Amino acid sequence: MYSFLNNEFLPADKTMVHVSDLAVQRGYGIFDFFKAVNGKFPFLNHYLDRFYRSADFMQLPVSLSREQLAGILHEMLQKNGVANAGIKMVLTGGYSPDGYEIATPNLIITQHTLTMPSAQLLERGVKIITHEFRREMPLVKSINYITGVWLQRKMMESNAYDVLYHLQGEVSEFPRCNLFIVKADGSVITPQAHVLEGITRKNILSMAGVTTGRVTLEDVILAREVFLTSTTKRAVPIVQVNDVRIGNGKPGPVVQQVLQELMKKELAD
Ligand SMILES: Cc1ncc(COP(=O)(O)O)c(C=O)c1O
Repeated sequence: MYSFLNNEFLPADKTMVHVSDLAVQRGYGIFDFFKAVNGKFPFLNHYLDRFYRSADFMQLPVSLSREQLAGILHEMLQKNGVANAGIKMVLTGGYSPDGYEIATPNLIITQHTLTMPSAQLLERGVKIITHEFRREMPLVKSINYITGVWLQRKMMESNAYDVLYHLQGEVSEFPRCNLFIVKADGSVITPQAHVLEGITRKNILSMAGVTTGRVTLEDVILAREVFLTSTTKRAVPIVQVNDVRIGNGKPGPVVQQVLQELMKKELAD
């Protein structure tokens, strides 16, 4: 299996960066993650837009043009002989002389095995818990997941699938997913502010009757349906928030419809 580092393909187990990288020293860097499906990259333009936007905001120049980067991604799939996979592109702060100053970024592209949610999980739905937190620079796909990683123990102890961030009752997102609710009047809403603009969220926002807005913890608890979305999870129904059951405690029709439409869009792109 090959990875890519800056300007060359290397065996995955020989792809390394130096300890002086600002990613190691200060957690400074950005990334993006998307899927290869049947040898194609659905919505690649959206992921590249976000990657270059995050890089620009974090003052990290990308040495490759969009066309060069897309070419390397296709070459990597061919070299690895895999048609379905997860692809991660990381751009680090580089080898900093004083461990603080931004240097020349390292670009690392790696290929990963993908596991999508099981049919059983989608049929049953999941429990989530909540945590008071808001990400700094939420529009940037930063490599810093310190709170999410730290919360894993609490999630396991609570038997929860994920943890929803809120600040003083206004909800934003999960560490790695976006949130949608279906209100009692049937409207479908995702938080407008303080979130990463997920590509799955973007695709769902293009569906009829879906909008952005302010969402509170109370809205979530009173919702008819609640679900989370991401590239690797698509749309997963949530049937319990902390100790509160959502609706009748079973996945509803809207999330199933959204999932079908997402899968169709993925194959059509
Ligand atoms: C903070 C955050 N929100 C939402 C998402 C979901 O985004 P996407 O649909 O592009 O996978 C991610 C993905 O990793 C994320 O890190």
